[in-house]
Amino acid sequence: MAHKIATDRKLFVFDTMDEMDDFAVNIWNKIREESIAEKGIFTIALSGGQTPVPFYRKLGESVNPGLWNKTYIFFVDERFVSHSSKYSNYKTLKENLFLIIKKSAGGINPVPTGETTPQKAAEKYEKILKSFFRLSDKKFPEFDLILLGMGKDGHTASLFPGSNSLKEKKHLVIATRKKGMPFVERISLTLPVINNSKNIIFLVTGEEKAKTLKKVIENPKCNLPSSFVKPVNGIIYFLVDRQAASLFIE
Ligand code: 6PG
Repeated sequence: MAHKIATDRKLFVFDTMDEMDDFAVNIWNKIREESIAEKGIFTIALSGGQTPVPFYRKLGESVNPGLWNKTYIFFVDERFVSHSSKYSNYKTLKENLFLIIKKSAGGINPVPTGETTPQKAAEKYEKILKSFFRLSDKKFPEFDLILLGMGKDGHTASLFPGSNSLKEKKHLVIATRKKGMPFVERISLTLPVINNSKNIIFLVTGEEKAKTLKKVIENPKCNLPSSFVKPVNGIIYFLVDRQAASLFIE
């Protein structure tokens, strides 16, 4: 069921996660085709968390492996832990997507969490992004697609309510303090990068997020990090299940 909420914000509510994930795979394929037709590559940044795991698996199983060649994968955020830690977003993506597509992706760019501090990891990741996108000073990368999740407290990426990182205007990547669970430091893309994306998909499920989602959907000016996601020139899709939407749909 589609609900149009503003020209650049599209809300779709699904009865099951399975339907939601099928829909997300279709949007993904459409954006991938358009991006490759336009410039020969498809650039994406993926989130961690549990909600997108079935989507990643579906994507890995349904998309022809040959089609991953021109796809360049980055991370929206990462926990400052080793890539083999159970808290690592890289590990989640590896187990639920990269192994399925047999590393045939054109390029996987993990956050370098082997650095000595989260700050150094953030600086290095920023350099990786600047070099890949050939960015001059004060420019931000333009991803074709960024996939986001939302926490119960309204955080997205590793941008938490009330955090200074929400005010970042200069950097592409920042290190954040220990805030949400798991209680570890994190590295995150900043809002200027997220908002420069051509397309953003939020995947949000579960009744425990209903109150927060209602605020973000009905009051885009509310003070929650997820409502600061407003692509400058892009489209934002909220793909949500009936439980998460229970407070604003019948
Ligand atoms: C992370 C994320 C984070 C996540 C939300 C929602 O690394 O934790 O990227 O922003 O998307 O916390 O997580 P769930 O999908 O597990 O609820």
